[in-house]
Amino acid sequence: MAILLAPMEGLLDFTLRDMLTRVGGIDRCVSEFIRVSGTLLPERAFIRVMPELEHGGRTPAGVPVRAQLMGSDAACLADNAARLASLGPAGIDLNFGCPAKVVNRHGGGAALLDEPELIARLVGAVRRAVPSAMPVSAKMRLGVNCDSRAVECALAMQDGGAEELVVHARTKAHGYRPPAYWERIADIRRAVRIPVVANGEIWSVADALRCREVTGCDDLMIGRGMVSDPGLALAIVSPGRAPLSWPALQPLIARFWQLIRSHIEPRARAGRLKQWLNYLRRRYPEAEQAYVAVRTINDPELVYQRLFALAEAPRPRYPCESLLAEAVV
Ligand SMILES: Cc1cc2nc3c(=O)[nH]c(=O)nc-3n(C[C@H](O)[C@H](O)[C@H](O)COP(=O)(O)O)c2cc1C
Repeated sequence: MAILLAPMEGLLDFTLRDMLTRVGGIDRCVSEFIRVSGTLLPERAFIRVMPELEHGGRTPAGVPVRAQLMGSDAACLADNAARLASLGPAGIDLNFGCPAKVVNRHGGGAALLDEPELIARLVGAVRRAVPSAMPVSAKMRLGVNCDSRAVECALAMQDGGAEELVVHARTKAHGYRPPAYWERIADIRRAVRIPVVANGEIWSVADALRCREVTGCDDLMIGRGMVSDPGLALAIVSPGRAPLSWPALQPLIARFWQLIRSHIEPRARAGRLKQWLNYLRRRYPEAEQAYVAVRTINDPELVYQRLFALAEAPRPRYPCESLLAEAVV
């Protein structure tokens, strides 16, 4: 069973990918989408979204990262895919699931799920544009407003040459509201020859087991569940292991802060810390307490200090590499 870390634009960037893959249990990541519309992007545009391209397409923990492209013009997508491939990602993933209005207005993301013929052309153009050894995969929702063409879209991706399919078990109209319709993933899995990865609403080990049972998929992709519970992938792959405790998570948060400080502009730093904390509240009561304490603070240094004033021992200090090692499996 492989566990993939989901792409999440605006949340799960290289900093958080670094943290979550350090904990362990994740086999592969996908970058946030890189939108292609009308121009051949310079190399730096790909590297900005996926700095792992400068490190062999892997996170510092050595987990491979595929780069995700999104677009609706076959020639332009192919040209960009070729340039991207030359930078050495662990593969190229194509986005057929983004529900954002601004993206859909230009015919990208989930809007394409009404046009399976175009989907096949887009995947085919990218497949032909990149070296045959470079994996090309696709990620889809079940449809735009209904799921009646889900299997047709999946077959179009397969026919275009995708070697793997991630299915987020909701339509665009469903947004991110529970439930996820895992049984529809089973229909897709039965219809295609390529491996299908199940995605959507996996928050716990029990969810992972049920999702595998309902979908028949060995492989899972997890997004918000991993951000909320960084030990989730490890707990899924090694039953019986003690859960990642709040104190054990502190060095990871400290390391995250170091990365944010060195890579993210000052005015966005407090927001990034609070954003992760907001997700962690779902799993850790201590995160709830910390979130309440920092919610209204905008000075990033103060946010960090308050956070660790509340943390139970051990309290990390910079540099905290020895503590970090405890969290790294
Ligand atoms: C904030 C946010 C950003 C996302 N960005 C992307 C993206 O860039 N590319 C993509 O294919 N899916 C994106 N998704 C969808 C996720 O990859 C995933 O399919 C979805 O969150 C369901 O999985 P989960 O329930 O495990 O979170 C995003 C989801 C969220 C909530």
